[in-house]
Amino acid sequence: MKTPRILVTGAAGFVGSHTVDLLLAEGCQVMGVDDLSTGRMVNLRSASQSPHFRFVRADITGPAILDDLCSGFTPDAIIHLSGLVSVVRAQEEPDLNYRLNVHSTQLVAEAARRHGTRRVVFASSAAVYGDHPDLPLSESVFPHPISLYGTAKRASEELLLGHATSFGMETICLRYFNIFGPRQDPRSPYSGVISIFSERFAAGQPVTIFGDGSQTRDFVSVFDIARANVIAATRPGLSATVCNVCTGAPRRLLSVLDVFRSAYPEAPEPRFEGARPGEIQHSCGNPERATDRLGFRAEASFETALRDFIESTRPVPAPAEAPMLAVVR
Ligand code: UD1
Repeated sequence: MKTPRILVTGAAGFVGSHTVDLLLAEGCQVMGVDDLSTGRMVNLRSASQSPHFRFVRADITGPAILDDLCSGFTPDAIIHLSGLVSVVRAQEEPDLNYRLNVHSTQLVAEAARRHGTRRVVFASSAAVYGDHPDLPLSESVFPHPISLYGTAKRASEELLLGHATSFGMETICLRYFNIFGPRQDPRSPYSGVISIFSERFAAGQPVTIFGDGSQTRDFVSVFDIARANVIAATRPGLSATVCNVCTGAPRRLLSVLDVFRSAYPEAPEPRFEGARPGEIQHSCGNPERATDRLGFRAEASFETALRDFIESTRPVPAPAEAPMLAVVR
């Protein structure tokens, strides 16, 4: 069988780098592109050792960039993961949100069409649902995003599905729920709660709980997200679709906190503050469609994946000083 050739945009980012690692482990030829505005080369340290990986530093919205990549590499599929990830920044800079989260998708879809790449996998988000009351969220409910970020993801989904209808392309939009795992940047105030907690517990600092901690989220390991991307890009015979990537099992924030506190029993008490304005209390996806249409099911046990992540971010203790040797004269 022919070795799959996969082009990954946003390859040096949190999700991108794990996706690249898994594609290489599965024997694919991989071309990664990233402008390194938020992605980091250190995330591709292991991938860069592989003779099957090539990396190009570029902004894919630049003139002819995607055409050059597609004509040189001739990908079988494109996994489009680059974009503006901060929901807050998307709200503050709507034009930037449009360029990075909508226009870039149109450029990817058109480059794929022109170069005969039938499969495009897209990083969509649970943000397309907005504050929908019917949980768990199924793809059949009408999306009603409440942020420009969610709106842009929704617009991108429609552009890709339009390419499927018009040109027979296999465009697969994956609605990721709350992703956690290694390589997520904890420094931004808008990072995922688990990466913020891991940094603060490791530094011996108190964490802040917004609200009473009873809120729930559908946390999904980045290793599962990478697996969903790889299946969507490489499994033969898939049709265009939109699928949640989630576990279907909501977790309370206080139970997440408990896992951290058992790993760091000496940690200071958490601080409680008012809930963040406009925030939803509960979020959970229905994972059935991804299982039916892609053959994907989240495998990582939440507690095990969270404990592994906590251990991977635990500071390494400084080596004990060597005992002084008595000088014998
Ligand atoms: C996610 C997005 C957010 C977006 C929302 C709706 C991420 C990281 N955040 O938020 O930008 O507006 O979906 O699409 O993708 N929390 C604390 N303490 C902290 C940090 C967070 O208590 O230090 C709480 C939050 O208030 C929230 C929960 O933890 O209730 C999860 O927060 P977060 O990881 O930011 O995810 P979402 O709220 O789902």
